[in-house]
Amino acid sequence: MEFISIFFSFFTLLSALFFFTSSVRGGRKNLPLPPGTLGWPYIGETFQLYSQNPNVFFASKVKKYGSIFKTHVLGCRCVMISSPAAAKLVLVTKSHLFKPTFPASKERMLGKQAIFFHQGDYHSKLRRLVLRAFTPESVKTIIPDIESIAVDSLRSCENRLVNTFQEMKTFTFNVALLSIFGKDEVLYRKDLKRCYHILEKGYNSMPVNLPGTLFNKSMKARKELAQILAKILTLRRESKTEEQKDLLGSFMEQKEGLSDEQIADNIIGVIFAARDTTASVITWIVKYLAENPSVLQAVTEEQEGIMKGKDDKGLTWVDTKKMPITSRVIQETLRVASILSFTFREAVEDVEFEGYLIPKGWKVLPLFRNIHHSPENFPNPEKFDPSRFEVAPKPNTFMPFGNGAHSCPGNELAKLEILVLLHHLTTKYRWSMVGPQNEIHYAPFALPQNGLPITLTRK
Ligand code: HEM
Repeated sequence: MEFISIFFSFFTLLSALFFFTSSVRGGRKNLPLPPGTLGWPYIGETFQLYSQNPNVFFASKVKKYGSIFKTHVLGCRCVMISSPAAAKLVLVTKSHLFKPTFPASKERMLGKQAIFFHQGDYHSKLRRLVLRAFTPESVKTIIPDIESIAVDSLRSCENRLVNTFQEMKTFTFNVALLSIFGKDEVLYRKDLKRCYHILEKGYNSMPVNLPGTLFNKSMKARKELAQILAKILTLRRESKTEEQKDLLGSFMEQKEGLSDEQIADNIIGVIFAARDTTASVITWIVKYLAENPSVLQAVTEEQEGIMKGKDDKGLTWVDTKKMPITSRVIQETLRVASILSFTFREAVEDVEFEGYLIPKGWKVLPLFRNIHHSPENFPNPEKFDPSRFEVAPKPNTFMPFGNGAHSCPGNELAKLEILVLLHHLTTKYRWSMVGPQNEIHYAPFALPQNGLPITLTRK
């Protein structure tokens, strides 16, 4: 009797489960797509997106359809989302349903094995290796070297008209190499820089590998970069010195078992992730400080205070933790400039989302910039006001470094190198902007017009 009732309950449970899953599946198919328009066949709404500031496109769609809408750009059907809760769902809570996705040309240039393109065990392992090279404990040991790179960078800009973004790209490139190769970086700087310069020109090109195309030149530079990296790996293995604490040392640990190709793809990937992002944030800070004299004065006073009792000794980790005003300037710049306006994911199966269907294969774009510029999250959002960060932002409303499994592992290093550069910039220099600077260029990161030309003079 008992057996029959257990069997019966089991059968009922099974049928209920079957009914439930099939009705969800059937239900999903019947769910509506998010509101919005798909535009013309194939080209979709690509022209509307790129014929104006892309943020105008996003903002007008949000106004018309709400925080989730569909569109069709660059040959892809997309769902764009701009509510903090929905962004958290895609990037954190349901991240297994949304895989990272990139244009084919980027994947071939950075290398298939780079961290960005993976999920699961391989991704977790790489992330652990990258994170341990960028913990506060690790990055604090390279502060004196970051400082000397910053001092040299600023000195090289003295008394001439400079393109802030280009100069800061050199600074952030050198810091990235330092964090990857340790002090050895100067040995490889010139060659790596030459190859990387050619490689980056092809990042957004059509993947046509014919002689003379940008893509073809980039692929050749990519090959040469991999050869230089292979040489560095051999030299390090032969030198038999103690295991080093830099990123290369972390990747090379024998027990981790990474192949040389995997190491090369990830080193090129980290340079890519570290350089232009940090350089564009610094460029925006230089602009906002020039436009907001009272904020510049507050930052300068804070930095002079740090400099005072130091007798020309270098900055320490503890010093960098005593810079609340400067840190809030960095936070507010990350919010207002939102240099990464959005990121890309792809639905790995049909997903039910806030009562809508996101079909398998559709791209999903969390719109960071819209979240950072929503008056509900940040009152008077267009105003540059670092003091708003005296109070912590509402959860999931501030994501300059992303969120979840793919969030930025380099954020401590990025903040540290910006603080060190600002310390020397504000205590030793005056600068003025040259020419018009009202427009924003997207290349692809948001940038002030023409990379912000300035003149820099010693105080
Ligand atoms: C202010 C400068 C930076 C900003 C705003 C920034 C922003 C971001 C964001 C938003 C993501 C997540 C993208 C996504 O979820 O699709 C990301 C990922 C990443 N960032 Fe950064 N980043 C910066 C600097 C750096 C630096 C200095 C490094 C390395 C030294 C770095 C290394 C990486 C890596 C390796 C990833 C991929 C992580 C993964 O896929 O697991 N970033 N970054």
